[in-house]
Amino acid sequence: MGILSRSPNYSRRLEDNGMKLLATALFSVTFGILLGLSFPSLWITKASLPQKLPCSIAISNRYSDIAVPVQATDISKIWVPSNPKGAERLPPGIIASESDLYLRRLWGNSEEELKKNPRYLVTFTVGYKQRQNIDACVKKFSDNFTIVLFHYDGITSEWDDEFEWSENVIHISVKKQTKWWYAKRFLHPDIVARYDYIFMWDEDLGVDHFDAEEYIHMVKKHGLEISQPALDPEKVCTWQITKRREHVEVHNKETNEKLGWCSNPNQPPCAAFVEIMAPVFSRNAWRCLWHMIQNDLVHGWGLDFALRRCVQEPAYEKIGIVDTQWIVHQFIPSLGSQGKEEDGKSPLQGVRDRCYMEWAMFGRRVDEAEKEYFKSLQVQTPSN
Ligand SMILES: *[C@@H]1O[C@H](CO)[C@@H](O)[C@H](O)[C@H]1NC(C)=O
Repeated sequence: MGILSRSPNYSRRLEDNGMKLLATALFSVTFGILLGLSFPSLWITKASLPQKLPCSIAISNRYSDIAVPVQATDISKIWVPSNPKGAERLPPGIIASESDLYLRRLWGNSEEELKKNPRYLVTFTVGYKQRQNIDACVKKFSDNFTIVLFHYDGITSEWDDEFEWSENVIHISVKKQTKWWYAKRFLHPDIVARYDYIFMWDEDLGVDHFDAEEYIHMVKKHGLEISQPALDPEKVCTWQITKRREHVEVHNKETNEKLGWCSNPNQPPCAAFVEIMAPVFSRNAWRCLWHMIQNDLVHGWGLDFALRRCVQEPAYEKIGIVDTQWIVHQFIPSLGSQGKEEDGKSPLQGVRDRCYMEWAMFGRRVDEAEKEYFKSLQVQTPSN
């Protein structure tokens, strides 16, 4: 099958004609929180600046590290530099810099409303057509897990009619986007800070041989910061390292990839590698990875090769495949439906081409950023 078939299921969620946002209540809430976290300094700063200052200066102030207010020397006013950026005017005791995705009720005492405090978060990027499979997946996760569905086809309330669990999960609906697009916008590390592990899964995974609690147990036992369940060895795998191995609990290296794919046996894709179809991240790994996701590269191709940058070396000790809990990648070919025919290219081909383009682009950006960083070190330390 080769490289062409890697993760074809991402592609069906993309289209470039105008972004149409249809968001559920949570969209607004999450966005509101993010906005609240990010912009208070802007608003306060603007309000406190003399009226005649041009707007551009007030806005650039938000990005400045040296936004020391006039009141800084006035001890009757609050200014706490160690507060989160932008919240320096608040007494530290009132600051809630992190959130969670727990549902709350509109009445009664808030202290009594949370019967469970799930420590694990599971997200699926879904279309209504795959609902039976998602039903099977969701049932694999106990109420120790918060579940979020990202809907790429705009169909949400229909799920409530069919599945009882649907009323207790979070639905986020934005048409024709990919899971990395949703993740970047809705899963900011401060928003999901409550969760020890975050599952970011596709919709076409068979979970007959998967037990979620047992998976968590394995990941903790082996100290894996980034992991995925092994793939059914009977099926075609793009990367051999993801195939299930018998008689081991987890594995992380020593693989037999196609000729030329392994330039270094301790580096991706031959070690320290998981694919982007069913990754599971620790809180710390996610905080790092979130910063590496590019806003314009929506398919996430190439991220798998860069995951190692988010863990301590040697990366293969922190990134691995769990063999005791394994899944089946079903390669459901609903690909083209989210693309658009253009320049004689089929929708499917258009999406696929963009995947490859993004992969190359991401690789270049990482390389260049790394080079720039090391170059800047030399400039700063002339003794080198
Ligand atoms: C949920 O987590 C608790 C605490 O870790 C554990 O005791 C319990 O067995 C879990 N529930 C299920 C259904 O596995």
